[in-house]
Amino acid sequence: MKPDCVDWLVDIEMNNLAREPLPASQGQTSQDRLTQFAAWVAEHLGLSYAPMRLADLDRVMKQVAVTMGYADSAMCMQSLMDSAPSNARLTLLASQLTVGETYFFREPAVLDALKEYVLPALIAERQASGQRHLRLWSAACSTGEEPYSLAILLTRLLPVQAGWRIRLLATDINPQSLQQARLARYSRWSFRNPPDWLIPGYFTPDGNRHLRLVDSIRDRVEFAWLNLVQPELPVGLATLGMDIVLCRNALMYFTQAQAKRVVDRFYQALNPGGWLIVGAVEANPTWFVNFERVRLGEVWLYRKPSAERTVSTHQAEFPPLDLPSIRPSPSADVLVPPLPPVAVLAPRQPISQQVPTLLNEARQMADAGNLIAAEACCHQAIAIDKLNPASQYLLAMVLNGQGRNAAALHALRAALFLDEKLIVAHVALSAMYRYVNEAASQRHLTQALHLLKQCEPTELVPEAAGVTASQLLAMIGGHT
Ligand SMILES: C[S@@+](CC[C@H](N)C(=O)[O-])C[C@H]1O[C@@H](n2cnc3c(N)ncnc32)[C@H](O)[C@@H]1O
Repeated sequence: MKPDCVDWLVDIEMNNLAREPLPASQGQTSQDRLTQFAAWVAEHLGLSYAPMRLADLDRVMKQVAVTMGYADSAMCMQSLMDSAPSNARLTLLASQLTVGETYFFREPAVLDALKEYVLPALIAERQASGQRHLRLWSAACSTGEEPYSLAILLTRLLPVQAGWRIRLLATDINPQSLQQARLARYSRWSFRNPPDWLIPGYFTPDGNRHLRLVDSIRDRVEFAWLNLVQPELPVGLATLGMDIVLCRNALMYFTQAQAKRVVDRFYQALNPGGWLIVGAVEANPTWFVNFERVRLGEVWLYRKPSAERTVSTHQAEFPPLDLPSIRPSPSADVLVPPLPPVAVLAPRQPISQQVPTLLNEARQMADAGNLIAAEACCHQAIAIDKLNPASQYLLAMVLNGQGRNAAALHALRAALFLDEKLIVAHVALSAMYRYVNEAASQRHLTQALHLLKQCEPTELVPEAAGVTASQLLAMIGGHT
């Protein structure tokens, strides 16, 4: 993974905003007015101007006064505070006060979490349920690099989107940024640490210094103006029913109270089980009390708790197919745990019991040779609890049994993404890589041995169906 430059960028952004205090020559009156105006800005734009940053506000307001045709900034501020705040005036002000720093694939660990886990799980869930729709929102999208990065990721994960309804909404308060976003024409500054495939795959040169995003990606994103702190959202913008909301590097400019209000707004916007992704440095835990905090790889994401779902007739949704001939001979390479006894799926189980039941059923179906039905059970278990590494591991075993090695590898990586200490997944990956990538195979074997040596010899290895640490060590060539 490439080094992330978010930290130094945030430093630059913060330093730009935290300059020297007001000169002492400026009188108390002007200081008071600025303080009052800062409170007005916080209320109407969300932006926070602490006392040490009032000099910045003063500087910007001198520019704004010229643009708005006032004799001086004091008159301009007074006039703004005295009149009802119109969108036109707020927009003009926002375009001077906001920081639009952004670039493609910013914070790669977040994009990795989306690519490795959040999006594949969502896609699989929707595919399994037949509800082929996705709704994503990049709130505070600036000049579009973030929503376009999302659109590119989605295209790579779901190359054929026919039959899907996908909405990728991108909003910002700065109309100039939105205009630039719609043009989709970028200088090299928008590409810091891009993945190798990004520019050759999705951009064409436009003059000497710019790159233009291909139309097929540009046309997937819908841009709209939105002030995140305005009391009522515009009718017709349709921000509800979202599966993912990204709002990165914007909340850190807001007052605490406005940031909390905006996070509450995102909570309302999300579907149960939907994800909120904010910037790594801006998360105040008190804003997210309604969310589950989930660690995926190197990042923390926030998830709206799922509504209590019930599975009463999952077999009706995934009728077992009678395909006895597809059962492969057991692979010597991959550790397939013995199958535990079958549990009967009760009509209305609590969620906590649904996943183990479905996984048991998947094992039973796999054992009976019905790998398609077993796969469907795994997908359903994943749809109920996306964060259970055991479901991904079992799915990998079932896919491997079908000879679908690439998909099996993906599921194993997802399992390890959720639990990097899942020993059986390291063992399976080591076996799968053995003839194609010796180094990767060795790395996973080493990791499995290392983890096993930390266990008590008689300890049962998770997901290995009764195999102890010493037994597994012996099986994979380590010594007990
Ligand atoms: C630093 S950029 C973040 C861009 C992108 N999300 C990223 O992380 O790369 C912050 C953006 O927040 C927007 N913004 C600031 N206040 C806003 C508000 N009240 N409503 C909507 N957007 C706002 C700014 O216009 C700016 O484009």
